[in-house]
Amino acid sequence: MDNAELRERAGALFPGGVSSPVRSFRAVPDEPVPIVRASGARLHDAEGGEYIDYVAAYGPLILGHAHPAVVKAVGQAAAGGTAFGALSPGEVELGRRIQEATGLERLRFVNSGTEATMTAIRLARAATGRDIVVKFDGCYHGHSDGLLVKAGSGVATLGLSDSAGVPESIAAGTGVLPYNDPDALSEWFREHGDETAAVIVEPVAGNMGVVPPGEAFLEALQAVPKQHGALLINDEIITGFRLRYGLSGLLPGADLVCLGKVIGGGLPVGALGGRAELMSQLAPEGPVYQAGTLSGNPLVMAAGAATLDVLCDGRPYARVEELAQYLENGLGTGIRRAEADACVVRRGSLLSLFFRSTPPRDYAEASGCDSDTFARFHQGMLTRGVMLAPSQFEAWFVSAAHTEADIDRTVRAAAEALREASPGPVASSGGS
Ligand SMILES: Cc1ncc(COP(=O)(O)O)c(C=O)c1O
Repeated sequence: MDNAELRERAGALFPGGVSSPVRSFRAVPDEPVPIVRASGARLHDAEGGEYIDYVAAYGPLILGHAHPAVVKAVGQAAAGGTAFGALSPGEVELGRRIQEATGLERLRFVNSGTEATMTAIRLARAATGRDIVVKFDGCYHGHSDGLLVKAGSGVATLGLSDSAGVPESIAAGTGVLPYNDPDALSEWFREHGDETAAVIVEPVAGNMGVVPPGEAFLEALQAVPKQHGALLINDEIITGFRLRYGLSGLLPGADLVCLGKVIGGGLPVGALGGRAELMSQLAPEGPVYQAGTLSGNPLVMAAGAATLDVLCDGRPYARVEELAQYLENGLGTGIRRAEADACVVRRGSLLSLFFRSTPPRDYAEASGCDSDTFARFHQGMLTRGVMLAPSQFEAWFVSAAHTEADIDRTVRAAAEALREASPGPVASSGGS
């Protein structure tokens, strides 16, 4: 089956031809590329096409695709049974590694980031006896009803402000504030402090492109909710074990932490953790119900533990930092030479190229980026064998499997694609 036939069959089977909307290329004029195989920093399509990958499955693959240690661990685990529906040593092993690295007193494994944030919110509501949750415009915390309000990359790229099918009564339980605005947070709590159960935040926003937090914002996040008896939920689903081994360190005062992506080594995972007294409110110890047929699955636990084993000496972080810095410099030069109205923002191995002249501080600024130019740029990169997510609001993920030669090729491709893409006639985005 070639790429076109795979796309056609998928289109008939699945809405948008995909199993997750962010994989659709509706916002760029390209056809989505079905991938049949991946290794290291390379994706391979059904027709022998090869791409340097910066999607990295949207974040988990910090070691690259099919890392030998991960493949071996998953194979061995599968041979011993793919699911037990019972406690298994793999959970204890991965849990111990995460606990040691993060200091979280107790944890629960779930199957996705969405489940982790959803459960953290239920726990926060139960612990405080309050209903309202505050999130920030452009932050994404998964697709549970109450969190699908002003939720960044996927919804934003498809031109949806919120999702249909979310009852107004549920959306009304979510307050939305601008990211990086400590005054807005204080004002919210002056008015709604008594009703607010929790604030949930990405410590470095990764779903409106990479938007780092300011110091005053981080301080307010840790002080203001606490003063009003509300909890702080730190969503480290992208940043955990990606910026460094353990948590980002940006929100040490958080009450609950959500993890996912890297801790599952590319298999479906999520986790939440926090103080023992809070976590013990989860069933069966406490009254907050949460469950999962495949939670703590032995294959996932093995992939996660193998990944953390490779990461724990810190060397892959030094390597990805070096590579990402090299990429940032090269893209910066390309932007200057092409005189493009664009800028690069990077935190560790997370990077964004925004089509605006200065780094955005919040979603209002990020959403003003030029999406037509991005669409042309994306096409230019794809035809040169570089796979970027089909949205300006998704981060580029550098992995330890990239090489300097990959970065050189990427930078050359970007220099050409930037010249072609901007300035130029406005192309149809193919979106909406
Ligand atoms: C910060 C953040 N939180 C939560 C999620 C949801 O995770 P999942 O897609 O595993 O449900 C994502 C997914 O991209 C995310 O980036």
